[in-house]
Amino acid sequence: MTRHRHVPLLDLASELAPLRAELDAAWARVLDSSQFVLGPEVEAFEHEVAQALDVRHAVALNSGTDALLIALRALGVGPGDEVITSPFSFFATSEVVQTLGATPVFVDIADDGFAIDADLVEGAITARTKALLPVHLYGASAPMTRLLGVAARHGLVVLEDAAQAFGAHYACACAACRDTGACAGGGGADSLAGRALGTLGDAGAFSFYPTKNLGAYGDGGMLVTPRDDVAAAARRLRNHGGVGRYQHESTGYNSRLDALQAAILRVKLPHLPTWVRARRRLAARYDDLLDGLPGVRAPKATIDHVYHQYTVLVGEGRRDGVAEALRADGVDTMVYYPRTLETYGGRVSGDLRRAHAAAAGVLSLPIHPTLDERDQDHVVASLRRALGV
Ligand SMILES: Cc1ncc(COP(=O)(O)O)c(C=O)c1O
Repeated sequence: MTRHRHVPLLDLASELAPLRAELDAAWARVLDSSQFVLGPEVEAFEHEVAQALDVRHAVALNSGTDALLIALRALGVGPGDEVITSPFSFFATSEVVQTLGATPVFVDIADDGFAIDADLVEGAITARTKALLPVHLYGASAPMTRLLGVAARHGLVVLEDAAQAFGAHYACACAACRDTGACAGGGGADSLAGRALGTLGDAGAFSFYPTKNLGAYGDGGMLVTPRDDVAAAARRLRNHGGVGRYQHESTGYNSRLDALQAAILRVKLPHLPTWVRARRRLAARYDDLLDGLPGVRAPKATIDHVYHQYTVLVGEGRRDGVAEALRADGVDTMVYYPRTLETYGGRVSGDLRRAHAAAAGVLSLPIHPTLDERDQDHVVASLRRALGV
């Protein structure tokens, strides 16, 4: 058998190639402007994101981590507070809570995906609980309708970690939402249906790390919010708590987006819907090819998923062996994430059985807009061989 070529997890070079002329013009524009930090390029990008997501404010920052940190601070989270979140995420999700002297409180994920189980959240609330911090992991939505209900009943603020979900839209639990994206209630049955993830709560945080669906060529992030007070606080905090030249209302951060990243992201933003369509088509193809494969559970297919990752669960302790076999066949995979977040501190509410099973079983397969179907077939053939089916 001839050896199949290497199948990388993502392919930034092939994504860049058709944009090259536009990108060259964009960075030439920035070089000629001599304005490299914040400025008109960043303001234009903020405006375009606010329009694309239909949200009142978009504040550009220098990473998704800072977008989470600054959002929490702008929402008033501080020492002694508790923030309820998922134990199954990237470290930054709970790291920022601890950075502010607050305590992350972890409840388990649901069994129909990888997001926090809304049914368990109320049991974790104490007098110190200040915020809910759901994560739209891999680009699929957390159960926002129920989480916002809990938050409203208990007077909590909600920050969405949408680092992996830029451009995803919420689908409620009705069948029409799931199958076609058109809410059975015409948006009335669930007023969140069709709205952009990240814009549903008090604030949302996005990452533009290069590997993200909308990726810069360096670090970048964005805080979005419908709240004027949160946007104003975020604008101060990203610039040393400044309210004018050499006037600082509080301590803050240096978390300004640079103009080159904004110019690059402005080139990419209009292409995102096409890239998301390509990811969804490939994900649906994976769904078909993996359907009924023993030992593997494919992700819940929903209309709102933007497939930043296509992540399957491999059962019975076989994940690492399967990953090794795929690697031998030239197929790159990743484990996002092998360790749950309570191991880094915080408080646990209930048990984290499902999160631990996820950490032991998840495997992300190659997916990106330019993935070739023959490469995808090779991934699946290799997976079948590794599983002996
Ligand atoms: C779920 C999640 N939250 C937060 C972040 C932090 O974003 P950044 O790397 O831009 O700081 C990431 C980035 O990988 C992420 O995946």
